[in-house]
Amino acid sequence: MKLAERLKFFDASGIRKVFDLARTMTNPVNLSIGQPDFDIPEIFKKEAKKAIDQGFNSYTPTQGLQETIDLVNNLVYQSKGYKPPDTIITSGVSGGILLSYLALLDPGDEIIIPDPYFVMYKHLARLTGSKPVFLDTYPDFCIKKSALLPLINSKTRCIVINSPNNPTGNVLSEEDIALVVETAKRHNLVIISDEIYDYFLYDRKSLPSPWGKYENVVLLNGFSKAFSMTGWRIGYACGPKDLINEMKKLQQYTFVCAPSFAQKSLSVIAEADMSVYRNSYREKRDMIWLGLKDKYSLQKPGGAFYAFPRSPYDTDKFIAAALKEQMLIIPGNVFSEKNTHFRIAFAQSDETIRRGLEIFNKIAGENR
Ligand SMILES: Cc1ncc(COP(=O)(O)O)c(C=O)c1O
Repeated sequence: MKLAERLKFFDASGIRKVFDLARTMTNPVNLSIGQPDFDIPEIFKKEAKKAIDQGFNSYTPTQGLQETIDLVNNLVYQSKGYKPPDTIITSGVSGGILLSYLALLDPGDEIIIPDPYFVMYKHLARLTGSKPVFLDTYPDFCIKKSALLPLINSKTRCIVINSPNNPTGNVLSEEDIALVVETAKRHNLVIISDEIYDYFLYDRKSLPSPWGKYENVVLLNGFSKAFSMTGWRIGYACGPKDLINEMKKLQQYTFVCAPSFAQKSLSVIAEADMSVYRNSYREKRDMIWLGLKDKYSLQKPGGAFYAFPRSPYDTDKFIAAALKEQMLIIPGNVFSEKNTHFRIAFAQSDETIRRGLEIFNKIAGENR
């Protein structure tokens, strides 16, 4: 069978290797999983079951139920102070990334991706035939003017930012955002802002965002992480009317709509108080930071549930040393053009984190 040429753009081997290994281990210290360790709150389950029992099992309008769109518009307005010109309910934030890329990028166009990055940004750019151009943000993961400006040329169309960040946990500052907005305005670029981890913000009250500061911003967000509903596939994209309208057309011929019961379940969102989880994840962040900072070079994560320390020696050797101790972490080159760091996903029990810290301390000095 001849398979499509585009498959050569996809390499999932780094992460797959770790997940395959995890299946063969009996009680690994698994710090590789990028999703919350708590279950979805009961009220969502109840509401979803009610919707299913009431026969709410068919297609919804492509753009989402009006009640879900209204709810999202209110959420965005309340948290970010600017009402969306238009909104589409997507099949997770992943759906929003794909649809926005398909609507914005032609073959040969360029999209700037701050490195380290969420893996999908690079692979989906290649799927559209466009070129991912990497903006080096090491060592502090901030966006620097001297690194950004030389990347822009007549083919540059978009910049995708992600704060709080997967894999670094970094939160972009107001200055970083101002730089991105000012540059995008000057060069007529679209900013795609993936804020899926905005609920997990540990040291600030609100998240610096380009939303409301420039008209050509696509805000991507969703409920997968904040409410631990990664399998329910629900997210949203807000932005200029003409763009969102095109994304609706594309959704009609791809995902069709986000799951009906999941959209319905969001009606109880105001009753879901997740602050206990945020507080507990802040404590886990602190455990990781305090436990590693003396032996490892790392930025303190300001959000999400990831840390991205520098490997104390060759990353592949370091990952192998961790594996020997039954610990799973992900090498930096899964999220980066470099392989100098590794990702810890700390949305795990305190016991797992404690076991992990012991191993990190043990292997920090090996194989130098
Ligand atoms: C930065 C980022 N964006 C988007 C996604 C995908 O989210 P969803 O499950 O809503 O498709 C993830 C999932 O890990 C992520 O880390």
